[in-house]
Amino acid sequence: MNTTTQSPDGSGRMFDAIAQRYDLLNRINSLGLDRSWRRRMIEALSVLPGHRVLDLATGTADLPIMITEDLRDVRVVGLDPSKKMLDVGREKVARSAEAERIELVEGDAQALQFADASFDRATMAFGIRNVPDRDKALAEIRRVLVPGGRVAVLELSEPKNGLLAAMARLHVKYGVPAIGALLSSHGEYKYLRESIEAFDSVEVFCDRLTRAGLIVELTEPLTFGACVLYVARRPEADA
Ligand SMILES: C[S@@+](CC[C@H](N)C(=O)[O-])C[C@H]1O[C@@H](n2cnc3c(N)ncnc32)[C@H](O)[C@@H]1O
Repeated sequence: MNTTTQSPDGSGRMFDAIAQRYDLLNRINSLGLDRSWRRRMIEALSVLPGHRVLDLATGTADLPIMITEDLRDVRVVGLDPSKKMLDVGREKVARSAEAERIELVEGDAQALQFADASFDRATMAFGIRNVPDRDKALAEIRRVLVPGGRVAVLELSEPKNGLLAAMARLHVKYGVPAIGALLSSHGEYKYLRESIEAFDSVEVFCDRLTRAGLIVELTEPLTFGACVLYVARRPEADA
């Protein structure tokens, strides 16, 4: 679950500070829903045997582990600028039965170190909000995807309508920063609400995907809109 505004020195540095507690905070803040949201993301991405998957903003590597455990014959590269998030991720990967199919690397979504058309699928869960230049990151994702390749993005959102939506808004507004303050010695969690409010609406983010040269295939609100799943595809042929 995303938790932050950007650090002045690059957002990875801020995540270094909370890396050891990230998984626990994530589970509590999302009321345990983050795992089911990631699972839905994997399902919607239609990953096939033999596929190479790039997980951007991989953090502590929950997605690479889930993808390789669910799908045989799939290799995942997880990328993140936070060395300490990756350290926690590497410990988890080492305990996974599928460790040899996962590689974790340092990097920035805005300037990927991979050749054009290196991946069949890309994922980014609760990461795009931390990237200063989202358009650049989306252009990079398009570049490293094979023609016809797909990307899935999960991002938190403000639930809009109904009683449950109102309760979810209260949780995000007051519960999450309080839990964060309690469990973390750092102040980052207080920014969660502001960063959710400041993030693109579904329409604006779809527009970004389209401007990056991707075809939006799916937008799906999850848990009354507390989270939104986007799936987009690189066209088979360049326009
Ligand atoms: C809220 S965590 C999400 C981690 C993981 N995807 C998950 O589902 O739990 C956001 C991650 O985005 C990473 N991040 C921040 N800026 C980034 C950038 N420019 N490129 C790639 N990842 C970035 C942070 O280091 C952090 O690990």
